[in-house]
Amino acid sequence: PFEVELASSGQVFQIPAERTVFEVLDEAGIEIESSCEQGVCGTCVTRVLKGTPEHRDKFLTVAEQAANNCFTPCCSRAKSSRLVLDL
Ligand code: FES
Repeated sequence: PFEVELASSGQVFQIPAERTVFEVLDEAGIEIESSCEQGVCGTCVTRVLKGTPEHRDKFLTVAEQAANNCFTPCCSRAKSSRLVLDL
């Protein structure tokens, strides 16, 4: 499990192992556009301001993944205990 923090509001959400960032935020009424929900289309790409994503998508290039400044909340997770998202 890890946490995501929304930069705009400071709200913090716990992401349990069995749920995606997208699901948890969607349930809280935080809308992120999504389509495939499998890491393929890139619709959900969200900027990461702090923390290290664990990329599980097939959309970002290797260089984009290595930059760690965005991730796909529909399927990717975190290596750090918290990600701060530009939301
Ligand atoms: Fe398609 Fe996330 S919704 S990559």
